[in-house]
Amino acid sequence: EKGGYPHFMLKEIFEQPNTLFDCIRGRISADGTKVQLSGIEDNASRFINAKRIVLVACGTSWHAGLIGGRLIEELARIPARVEYASEFRYANPVISSDDIVIAISQSGETADTLAAIKLAKERGAFVYGVCNVVGSSIARATDTGTYIHVGPEIGVASTKAFTGQVTVLTMMALAIAQLKGTISPDALRSTAQSICKIPSQIKQTLKLNDKIEQLSRTYTYVHNFLYLGRGYNYPTALEGALKLKEISYIHAEGYPAAEMKHGPIALIDKELPTVFIAPKDELHEKVVSNIQQVKARGGSVIAIVTAGDEIIPSMADHVLEIPSSPECLSPIIASIPLQLLAYHIAVMKGCDVDMPRNLAKSVTVE
Ligand code: M6R
Repeated sequence: EKGGYPHFMLKEIFEQPNTLFDCIRGRISADGTKVQLSGIEDNASRFINAKRIVLVACGTSWHAGLIGGRLIEELARIPARVEYASEFRYANPVISSDDIVIAISQSGETADTLAAIKLAKERGAFVYGVCNVVGSSIARATDTGTYIHVGPEIGVASTKAFTGQVTVLTMMALAIAQLKGTISPDALRSTAQSICKIPSQIKQTLKLNDKIEQLSRTYTYVHNFLYLGRGYNYPTALEGALKLKEISYIHAEGYPAAEMKHGPIALIDKELPTVFIAPKDELHEKVVSNIQQVKARGGSVIAIVTAGDEIIPSMADHVLEIPSSPECLSPIIASIPLQLLAYHIAVMKGCDVDMPRNLAKSVTVE
């Protein structure tokens, strides 16, 4: 049932061109002019009039929420806040009937997320679910929602669910923006068409597997890793670090790259590798100077860059090229090499990647 792969995690990483195709199917019109999600269309006036959107989730789903919140704010111009469900539920939050709460959960069974939904409903919010498991407790507890449709995820480390969640949240942001008229038809079409290219771009990105397996040998026994990215790729850095931590037991931290100089730079020496998520975007130049700062302190750099980047390859120790995409979609593609890096390091260390110690696939207790 692992389809010839040694672990479910690797199978699920390699499934992503197909799972994302299923996730997108029927939701973007063939000409790219319409993004159709019934949960949003059926509740159009709620989304048009929403004063605020609060996204609640745990773990990897929370990282997807960070990207989704930013997308919703940027494209649909609705203030968005992203909360850990475990914090939200005990924070006595100000929530009203003008708020929409989006709960994100692969399993649909996470106890803290369920409790956050209950609280949001008690306070009158409309609650929207982004789940994978059909008919799960969260899918049933929410008013409506969108399934990510990526198929069963068995590996404890979430991979294909993360890319599915980010893809659904991107389509949601576009659908709301379309309803509110906060996006031009041209911008909508070009982003929608770029979403449709993601499955084949992931297929391309998966060709990095052998190179990543090779470079993982250099880093199998390090004790710490730093992951840095900016903008939409700050959450990608958090997700890369979480993946490494949970399956290889190597301590890793994710930070917005510009925060490096406010503390983490003190850690950098030749023992601490830094992974930069540095696709070509508006802040590219600034990330380049962060890479220089790491190199100047003897740190080694693994850089994820857009194919054809002419600057970073001369500076970084290892370069992983990904296909070009709009900035807001780059986390989906950039997370693939991070998943593979965590996987190969964990396998080389002899860790049980599908069932890491102390972890369960769904956290149904507090
Ligand atoms: O099923 P959920 O999406 O609600 O699960 C949330 C987290 O427990 C989950 O993402 C966890 O962080 C994963 N093990 C990460 O790979």
